[in-house]
Amino acid sequence: MTQTAVTRAMLMLVAMLAAAAVAFGCLVNPPPATRGGVAADDAAARGATLFESHCAGCHTEQDAVQYLRTAPNLDGGRRSLSALLEGHGDSSAGEDTAIVDYLVARARD
Ligand code: HEC
Repeated sequence: MTQTAVTRAMLMLVAMLAAAAVAFGCLVNPPPATRGGVAADDAAARGATLFESHCAGCHTEQDAVQYLRTAPNLDGGRRSLSALLEGHGDSSAGEDTAIVDYLVARARD
């Protein structure tokens, strides 16, 4: 075998190992998009439930979404709604975050 053939064989081996490592990584650890999607769905369901129990007695979801949309952009809307909820309603700070995340997602639709 010439020097070039040995080098080529080594490169092939390295490439195969890298491919195997990537394949194994995907099996053991699914791509973030899948996990993120599931997590986002869970968070949305939690936000919807929390809105239902802490806000819906006095507001429709549409009202809250409308409030977010009156800000120049949704980041501003998020900040202003988060600040408002600190002294509003009976939900905890953690619940407020879930509710705001949910409503911002709805306002994006
Ligand atoms: C006991 C009734 C009650 C509950 C529960 C309640 N609110 Fe309110 N909310 C009000 C009242 C009254 C106002 C002031 C009047 C208005 O602007 O609608 C208000 C104001 C707001 C505003 C500002 C509206 C604006 O145009 O300035 C937002 C946004 C809002 N609430 C969202 C929520 C969210 C989200 C929740 C749940 C975490 C919640 N509220 C829980 C009664 C309630």
